[in-house]
Amino acid sequence: MEAVVYTSNTGSTEHYAKLLGHELRVSVYSTEEAGNKLPTGTEIIYLGWIMAGKIQRFGLARKKYKICAVCAVGMGQTGTQRKEIREKNNIPGKIPVFTL
Ligand SMILES: Cc1cc2nc3c(=O)[nH]c(=O)nc-3n(C[C@H](O)[C@H](O)[C@H](O)COP(=O)(O)O)c2cc1C
Repeated sequence: MEAVVYTSNTGSTEHYAKLLGHELRVSVYSTEEAGNKLPTGTEIIYLGWIMAGKIQRFGLARKKYKICAVCAVGMGQTGTQRKEIREKNNIPGKIPVFTL
């Protein structure tokens, strides 16, 4: 896993992404930054905020990068909604999903 990439609206997801990147000692990019800096096929952890059950910009991220894990940031308690989020965003079983 080479980088953390995130999409945030009001800042919570950005905050989680930076905490995670710090712990894992890898670079952290917003989706826009990653577009210029990360080559296609880079292994990433993707974090996105949830709007109406959809992880924002996850579709774009999965087309370009190798997704090692997904963190979806919403209003619910950490660890809830995982099944629904996986189904609604068509995330295959081999990719771990975490909700925050
Ligand atoms: C229009 C809108 C729709 C949302 N839909 C959901 C949702 O379906 N499920 C959920 O858990 N949170 C939902 N939320 C809450 C956001 O995902 C939550 O505020 C999140 O922390 C925002 O992350 P951010 O601070 O990185 O932008 C919604 C928020 C907005 C503004």
